[in-house]
Amino acid sequence: MRSASWPDEQSLLKHLPPWVLEARCLVETDSTNRVALEWAAAGAPHACLVVADYQSEGKGRLGRRWLAPAGSSLLLSLILRPDADPGYLGLIGLGAGVALCRQLAGMGVEAALKWPNDVMLQTRKVAGILSEAAGGALVVGVGVNVNVAAFPDDLACEATSLMLQAGRSFDRVELLSGFLRHFGELYGNPAGIAPAYRRWSQTLGTRVRVVLAERAIEDQAIDIDGTGALVLGAGEVVRAADIVQLR
Ligand code: BTN
Repeated sequence: MRSASWPDEQSLLKHLPPWVLEARCLVETDSTNRVALEWAAAGAPHACLVVADYQSEGKGRLGRRWLAPAGSSLLLSLILRPDADPGYLGLIGLGAGVALCRQLAGMGVEAALKWPNDVMLQTRKVAGILSEAAGGALVVGVGVNVNVAAFPDDLACEATSLMLQAGRSFDRVELLSGFLRHFGELYGNPAGIAPAYRRWSQTLGTRVRVVLAERAIEDQAIDIDGTGALVLGAGEVVRAADIVQLR
């Protein structure tokens, strides 16, 4: 079903880079990642895209939810079939963060990446990325708070939108199209992802608290390794966790 505010799928494809094979635009779904994983399991090839106007059960990292008012956000999932070795899959998700930062810069918004790939406008999160692998496919899900006018009280200190930041509304098709263009370039040059990530990181070089299930560590964030994991000053390597930047 077509969204009232997205172009129809064939028109949308004309705005997107040619490597995007097929697109599904949904008015409402539970989660574009879930739809994409189901589509991938049914045989969707590399470079298929799902976008939605509204998600009732949007998935966030570490089992959280990702909720946004209908029509306010860019909610997309991209189906990839990378032939790279599995260790490299984490870097692809980081590449999505870099692509978003590059496109936002082109639209006049200076963003930065909080490890692993929360897209931040200073201290507030404007976009999140959730990569999920299944059956040889990698689904990269991206949620961007585009024209969100206000956040609930419990999120207002930590979340923001492009509109709240810039005082104007943004075109989601332009954002989507530019994001995919940058992402395609990075995907085609995997060796460039880590250096580009370092350029946009607001975490590397700062002191961080890493909250793991069983303990918390405080240390200097030194670098990312070849899989996208965070390397700390004492040599510890963190693969999946929440961090607090202590500055
Ligand atoms: C995070 O917690 O930072 C990641 C959020 C990822 C949300 C996006 S919205 C589109 C896609 N579909 C989902 O269910 N989740 C991702």
